[in-house]
Amino acid sequence: MNLRIEPCTAADLSRLLAGPVDPMSAAHHRERFALQESGEATYLLAWRGAENVGRATLYHRSKYAAVRAAEINALEATPQGQGIGSALIAAAEAIAARRGHDAVGLAVEPGNPAARRLYERLGYVPWGHGEVIDVWTEPRPGGDVEHRDPCDYLRRALPREDPAPAR
Ligand SMILES: CC(C)(COP(=O)(O)OP(=O)(O)OC[C@H]1O[C@@H](n2cnc3c(N)ncnc32)[C@H](O)[C@@H]1OP(=O)(O)O)[C@@H](O)C(=O)NCCC(=O)NCCS
Repeated sequence: MNLRIEPCTAADLSRLLAGPVDPMSAAHHRERFALQESGEATYLLAWRGAENVGRATLYHRSKYAAVRAAEINALEATPQGQGIGSALIAAAEAIAARRGHDAVGLAVEPGNPAARRLYERLGYVPWGHGEVIDVWTEPRPGGDVEHRDPCDYLRRALPREDPAPAR
């Protein structure tokens, strides 16, 4: 079935929260939709028919102070290995290019070589300024837990759009 990738709408959010959803995913959907509403990010969802099969957040500006590029975050595909992750990355890159960015970055944990292999095959290379610390909050029934994960940082230069031909 065809894959459809689009920014999350209010109706999508209601649909996601109405289904069987674990509390962490529900919190993620709400947080990412709020980021989109505030203009900080685009929350991309991948669909096969009515089934949500993936997600990615494109921050319009990196969440790391040292980085200025747009940034892909929290990429996830279910099932894996069917091209959903690659398609989400392509959709995020297209939005970044339309917004005038000349590069997209992303952080990857050293313990995630499969994701890194995919990024490298798609043209992502180390940004050359060392690791970043991914600080994120995990909602838990007994109270939120803050994580500080050292990550490698990769970036890909986006192809420049050709200027309109002169007449
Ligand atoms: C990382 C992740 C998002 C990648 O998404 P994905 O949909 O599995 O990625 P793709 O299918 O586009 O590509 C992954 C692999 O499947 C292969 N593949 C792509 N299209 C395929 C298809 N139609 N059929 C079979 N295999 C395919 C690719 O060649 C690639 O192979 P590789 O392992 O040698 O790199 C996904 O694996 C995931 O959700 N992982 C858990 C969360 C995570 O780690 N997120 C990243 C945080 S940095």
